Amino acid sequence: MKSFANRTKGLKQSGIRAVTQMVNAYNGINLGQGICDLPTPEPIKSGAINAVNQDKSIYSYHSGISSLRSHVAQKFRSHNGISCEAEKNVMITNGSTGAFVAACLSILEPGDEVIQPEPYYGYHVQLLKLLGFTPVFVPLKQKDWRPDLAAIENAITPRTKAIVVTNPGNPAGTVWSEKELEGLLGIMKKHHIWAFTDEVYEYMTYDGHSHISLASLDSAFERTLTMTSFSKTFNMTGWRLGAAVGPEALIEKMGLINDLIYICPPTPLQYGLKEAFLMDESYYDTLSAEYDRRRTLFCDSLKKAGFSFRRPEGAYYVFASFENIHRAGVPGFENDLTACEQLIKETGIGSVPGSSFFSNPEDGRFWLRFCYAKDVAVLEDACERLESFGKKHGLTS
Ligand SMILES: Cc1ncc(COP(=O)(O)O)c(C=O)c1O
Repeated sequence: MKSFANRTKGLKQSGIRAVTQMVNAYNGINLGQGICDLPTPEPIKSGAINAVNQDKSIYSYHSGISSLRSHVAQKFRSHNGISCEAEKNVMITNGSTGAFVAACLSILEPGDEVIQPEPYYGYHVQLLKLLGFTPVFVPLKQKDWRPDLAAIENAITPRTKAIVVTNPGNPAGTVWSEKELEGLLGIMKKHHIWAFTDEVYEYMTYDGHSHISLASLDSAFERTLTMTSFSKTFNMTGWRLGAAVGPEALIEKMGLINDLIYICPPTPLQYGLKEAFLMDESYYDTLSAEYDRRRTLFCDSLKKAGFSFRRPEGAYYVFASFENIHRAGVPGFENDLTACEQLIKETGIGSVPGSSFFSNPEDGRFWLRFCYAKDVAVLEDACERLESFGKKHGLTS
């Protein structure tokens, strides 16, 4: 039999699955995977059930049902300050991941370079590579995980066509300030590059950091593709629904690509999602407040376990260094892979090894990522386990 395509060679299932198996074997708590175990809001669920019962089961338009696009356009206008029209600028996508694929295929030629700040969200990088594009890595400033605009500009070459901006960030939780976004926009204009902004955690920000969409800045819209997701906002990661807003010509191309790859987002689920936009606005405040509560709880215990980190400004992860635990000579904490395993053995708590977020795995050697999007009772249990670990090894400060 002839061999598989070269592009499949570097593909492997992320270590997250192995972590999940090990956590289960220890009857532990998985804070590795970035999924939330809260329920999907009732109106969305019953909307989808009604749509299924009414046989709304056929393909929709490739860019989504028009009533949902109208709601989403209204959200982009009022919440994100992006002026847009439903029929011209907005599409419903198969998750934000579907939007990213369609955007890349619409804009990039094989071999084109895309600036990718790191630590990064792995799917962006893996997809760019799979599709034949070249990520060019630019580190966030390590002391505070802020974007380094000078380094971004230095990394631009004649082959650079776009930058990926994940705001709020995963794993480091950075929320870009208006000044940083303005600075980036200046660079984009000077070098004629696009931005793909991943804003899936837009409703989860803390300590007064507010999420600003790059596309809301003057003259940014025409060079920006904004992606959001309903996965995280409404606890429906498996429904595979997201949205994109951008210039008409780009959205048109992306729609055609979406048609070829997926035909359309799942029709009855789109009807369910429509109901989300009739829910009270207080939903979003509660969401943010609930995650803030979990963040405080979890960060306090993680500190008592000897980890050091910057408290996330947004999203729902803590990217934490265990270098102090390593220095204290705690067995097993030699590198991110052994530390991840050892932590499961001692506490049952699963995390993601830091090397998954860097182009050079060595950069992630002393880092683990924890997800605190968990039921409070489960999180409290995790916190107790972490605190006991800190006490046992004399790490509690
Ligand atoms: C930064 C980021 N973007 C995108 C996604 C996936 O979004 P979706 O489910 O809409 O494809 C995730 C999921 O963890 C994420 O962390």
